[in-house]
Amino acid sequence: MCSEMKKDRIIPAHIAIIMDGNGRWAKRRGLPRTAGHKKGAEVVEQILEDADHLGVRYLTVYAFSTENWSRPAMEVKALMSLLRRYMESSLVKCEKNNVAVRVIGDKTKLDKDLQASIRVLEEATKDNTGIHFQIAINYGGRDEILRGVRNLAKRIESGETKADDITEEMIAAHLDTAGIPDPDLLIRTCKEQRISNFLLWECAYTEFYYTDVAWPDFDKAELERAIDAYNQRDRRYGGLDSGEQ
Ligand code: FPP
Repeated sequence: MCSEMKKDRIIPAHIAIIMDGNGRWAKRRGLPRTAGHKKGAEVVEQILEDADHLGVRYLTVYAFSTENWSRPAMEVKALMSLLRRYMESSLVKCEKNNVAVRVIGDKTKLDKDLQASIRVLEEATKDNTGIHFQIAINYGGRDEILRGVRNLAKRIESGETKADDITEEMIAAHLDTAGIPDPDLLIRTCKEQRISNFLLWECAYTEFYYTDVAWPDFDKAELERAIDAYNQRDRRYGGLDSGEQ
């Protein structure tokens, strides 16, 4: 799905981002890793605005994975503080820019006050019709599928559904991303070329773009570079080019 043509190029409707390299960016400057995350959080807000202005309809960012709990306690605390601050401080801006925020991931493991501020922001912005901003927190693709499968299995146990009647659409409807179109483009910053348990179901036909730029240095020009690269891709979804039949 593509949202619109701008300057003769297709703007992907849904862009997902693995924001990698905060730690390396900080280390290069002799700063603590948490300084990289702080700058990274500022960049998220700017890229959300840039993506919106370019016509992107959905932006999903990987802020904290199910595996990130194994980082030093101080770093986990700093990341949670940044996320808490975002939830508590961005309501006015989201209203002004018509942004709808949704957090994906297992929220039940987060501190109660963070859960509460997420609920407030999600509820207050849910009817906004501008860009849809998904923040993945305590998110893992396998964990998301596991939770979805458990919920579907409960429907089978209760006799509401038969196993043979389960469809791909039903599985998608039991994921955190229910109702959100699959990403068209996935960007990963700072050299690494792997999916790291992000949106495993949803990225079945997503185009991947990798850049050497660390997340804190990512800007609108980089975003446009990724979109330009996306425009060079030939999305066949397992089929053939139209001219090849
Ligand atoms: C990966 O870099 C980045 C993270 C694990 C955290 C990303 C989180 C943010 C940018 C803050 C999000 C804030 C909002 C408002 C959504 P890394 O630490 O793994 O970097 P490294 O590979 O260089 O060590």
